[in-house]
Amino acid sequence: MKAWLLDDFTGIDRLRLAEVAEPVPQKGEVLLEMHFASLNPADRYLAEAQYPAKPPLPHILGRDGMGTVIQVSAGAGEVRIGERRGILRGGVGVERPGTFAQRVAVPVQDLVEIPAGWSEQEAAGATLVYLTAYQALTMWGPLAPSAVVLVTGASGGVGVAAVQLANAMGHTVVGLSRSSEKGQRLLQLGATATFNPEDRQWRQSLRTALAPRRVDLAIDNIGGNLLPQVIETLGDCGKVSIVGRLAGPVPSFNTATLLFRRIRMGGVAVGTYTNAESRAAWQQVLQLLSRNEARPLVDSVFPFDELPKAFERLAQGPMGKVLVQVQP
Ligand SMILES: NC(=O)c1ccc[n+]([C@@H]2O[C@H](COP(=O)([O-])OP(=O)(O)OC[C@H]3O[C@@H](n4cnc5c(N)ncnc54)[C@H](OP(=O)(O)O)[C@@H]3O)[C@@H](O)[C@H]2O)c1
Repeated sequence: MKAWLLDDFTGIDRLRLAEVAEPVPQKGEVLLEMHFASLNPADRYLAEAQYPAKPPLPHILGRDGMGTVIQVSAGAGEVRIGERRGILRGGVGVERPGTFAQRVAVPVQDLVEIPAGWSEQEAAGATLVYLTAYQALTMWGPLAPSAVVLVTGASGGVGVAAVQLANAMGHTVVGLSRSSEKGQRLLQLGATATFNPEDRQWRQSLRTALAPRRVDLAIDNIGGNLLPQVIETLGDCGKVSIVGRLAGPVPSFNTATLLFRRIRMGGVAVGTYTNAESRAAWQQVLQLLSRNEARPLVDSVFPFDELPKAFERLAQGPMGKVLVQVQP
């Protein structure tokens, strides 16, 4: 079969499409013929050795996607050949070969059904980002429905998921995007207001728009220079769920900014969900999305042999998920 191989930890630029041996599903696993696979910034981080996992090389990246079950091993339970399944976040593409391949062996506990009414493309990139957004929203305990939630990098995979889920929870949602076009789209997806973080006045504009309220929870995908600005927008006992750092390390940070309003910050790590927790969270996500008949947003779909172009699109800043179509 064909697969994209990572030969060393020097980054995604040197991924190569190669002919490799067919995967053999072990006890409790199925073989999935991939239809669509989805890209995540974490693929790049793993390829650059910036991620805790160091799988044996050559490695196949790709954490989520969907396909058809074509082989079922002993101990794989009720799954039948011919059924379509998505992949719940687990070891696929991290410690074991991933979805940028024509076929993937997947432990049966990491499979999920395709939600009713969703297209294959919508299902292919949903699990990782919605579970991440759900953890970021719920990790501090119950948030008052009237709370204000700020989402940075709101147009990306995690960002769109966070906007939709926070909206379904009844919160006032503020999104940040560097693009006014994407800002408009976020309003349609459930944001009450959007601001451009490159506009020097964005914090003042946000303050005026929210007054007298302030941000209760910020979900930060960006880090860098933006994080201290995000902290400024928080009210008393405000919280920051740190999801990512697409703009790199925070160059200058004054811990005093946390003191007077008793701000709390904490890391999100979707990989710390156990399989049972992931399944429970996924059910909550589906219930929340069904409240508004919200569905995952697909930015673009590239042919399988154009995976490098798909990574370029991801780096530009998508509006939703970037996918590759594995089976034409
Ligand atoms: N902690 C966890 O468990 C976990 C799980 C999943 C993802 N993550 C991390 O969360 C982050 C977001 O992931 P994602 O899948 O949502 O990414 P994504 O789909 O690439 O989207 C991120 C969005 O952020 C904005 N952006 C990108 N680079 C930026 C920069 N340098 N400065 C300012 N804005 C920038 C872009 O929006 P605009 O162009 O509209 O501004 C882009 O659409 C990544 O760092 C990822 O590794 C963490």
